[in-house]
Amino acid sequence: MGRLSGKRAIVTGAGSGIGRASARLFAAEGAKVVAIDLVEAAVDETADMIRKEGGAVSSVAADVSNETAVKDFVEHCAAQYGGVDVLYANAGISGGMVPLQEQTVAYWQQILAVNLIGPFLAIKYASPYMLKQGKGSIICTASVAGLRANAGATAYSASKAGVISLVQTVANEFYGSGVRVNAICPGLIETGMTKPIFDGARARGSDDKIGQLNPMKRYGLPPEIAHAALFLASDDASYVNGQAIAVDGGLSSTHPFAGRR
Ligand SMILES: NC(=O)c1ccc[n+]([C@@H]2O[C@H](COP(=O)([O-])OP(=O)(O)OC[C@H]3O[C@@H](n4cnc5c(N)ncnc54)[C@H](O)[C@@H]3O)[C@@H](O)[C@H]2O)c1
Repeated sequence: MGRLSGKRAIVTGAGSGIGRASARLFAAEGAKVVAIDLVEAAVDETADMIRKEGGAVSSVAADVSNETAVKDFVEHCAAQYGGVDVLYANAGISGGMVPLQEQTVAYWQQILAVNLIGPFLAIKYASPYMLKQGKGSIICTASVAGLRANAGATAYSASKAGVISLVQTVANEFYGSGVRVNAICPGLIETGMTKPIFDGARARGSDDKIGQLNPMKRYGLPPEIAHAALFLASDDASYVNGQAIAVDGGLSSTHPFAGRR
């Protein structure tokens, strides 16, 4: 028996990085997974991996900021697997490091649409299935950038702070329902999103400097976030609700400190 045996799980942003690792881990732990990504070839590749690993998966290319598309992929999960038990709203974009005076309203709207309205829409359409059965787990990927400054650009950080507020407020809106709502705040993880940072540092020969600010003295890998998502998705986390859990090697525990060994 896997830790998610019998559960039906939707994972967004499943074509790369944290979402791919989570979809694979959820399936390996017995969940029937609906993998979502904007990039069809990428999410199909994730589904192929899961099938080769013996898991149950259905992949859908969809934009998480498009309400009709979100409604459709949630209904697809219900039609394919008979319901929804776990939603991992993980898809996100960074928007790059654009100086404040160069940021436009369209730039902000795009980041908020994917990173914040995306999770809202997925919760809106997936939660009725969970509320009806009196049980379910919703997980969103926020970021340490949503906790405090200097881990991302302005709009990205604000969107992730919004995700933390979203899980806190929805956990309370679902008072007494049995549906849990939590966020994970990753630190620096090597994924498609952070590839430019890693590529740049490797090109400069300074890759030994990456991830040195946290007390683990290293960057993280996607499976390390996927394991936190697995915990929150599973019944092991039956009393964990309304939380934003940092998985960051201890980065968010520190005050600035210049005297590193
Ligand atoms: N990598 C890090 O260091 C880090 C740190 C903190 C938080 N995060 C968050 O983790 C989540 C996953 O990112 P990642 O690091 O795995 O990056 P990634 O780029 O490897 O994966 C993100 C995936 O989301 C997909 N996506 C983007 N926009 C979409 C949309 N509108 N609809 C559907 N899919 C869409 C992309 O195609 C991609 O496959 C994001 O929310 C990100 O903000 C990442």
